[in-house]
Amino acid sequence: MTLTINSISAGYDSSIILHDISVELKQGLVTALIGPNGSGKSTLLKVIAGIVKPYAGIIRLGDINVDELKGTQRAQLIAYLPQASNSLPSTTVFESILLGRKPYISFEPDSEDLAVVEDTIKIFNIEQYAFKKINELSGGEIQKVLIARAIAQRTKVLLLDEPINHLDVKNQLEIMNIVKHYTASSGLITMVVLHDINRALQFADEFILLKDGYIIERGSSEVITPHVLHEIYGIEADCITYKKKRKIIII
Ligand SMILES: Nc1ncnc2c1ncn2[C@@H]1O[C@H](COP(=O)(O)OP(=O)(O)OP(=O)(O)O)[C@@H](O)[C@H]1O
Ligand SMILES: [Mg+2]
Repeated sequence: MTLTINSISAGYDSSIILHDISVELKQGLVTALIGPNGSGKSTLLKVIAGIVKPYAGIIRLGDINVDELKGTQRAQLIAYLPQASNSLPSTTVFESILLGRKPYISFEPDSEDLAVVEDTIKIFNIEQYAFKKINELSGGEIQKVLIARAIAQRTKVLLLDEPINHLDVKNQLEIMNIVKHYTASSGLITMVVLHDINRALQFADEFILLKDGYIIERGSSEVITPHVLHEIYGIEADCITYKKKRKIIII
């Protein structure tokens, strides 16, 4: 199955933010969406999630037109974690992750739903606060719970907008490892907005570089070059290879 984004133009009111975006995303791969503030990264995720309607173009998941999906159907296929959530539930962590199962629950959660929540809590290593209230957790702990909920939704597509922003380095690595392994083992189509280019190089398989709503480059880590970083951010950078992985040194 492929997520095909075909000639998407989108924006707010009458201003166009995304211009003629076309890209194909394959199962099992993590794609990093990179670009300056205001370049349209969150807007692109919102278009895929069905929150912003495009002015033109079409998005297909396999042969499904994503635009035609209704609420529950969409939630079974696409999980979306917004950039910053300011409305936090006063529920417990367990209940909050269980909310990720809502698209599958018609009356009350069954044993499978509860098993998925328990597994997810274990994978994310958050047993110690599973029964605490969300609004009594630290910013990083909340972020882990929200990512866990998106994964418990068991969708085909996972969209994460700056998921590791509030996390310490250890948690950043832990979360990105979970996202990468879960994407590969479950054949997910994952798109993650990241500002840290080295973190993106460490975990992503594919890269999309946005500037002013246009795709400047896309492809494997080779597209991340000093030249393209200068073009996008106006910065000086060097590229090195360390243990067979590309790294960026910002000068
Ligand atoms: N709800 C909105 N109404 C009107 N304009 C908006 C809205 N949301 C975003 N924009 C505008 O669209 C452009 C792209 O915003 P977007 O949030 O997609 O950028 P971004 O790449 O995610 O930036 P950041 O890295 O700061 O999160 C910006 O110029 C922004 O001002
Ligand atoms: Mg954003």
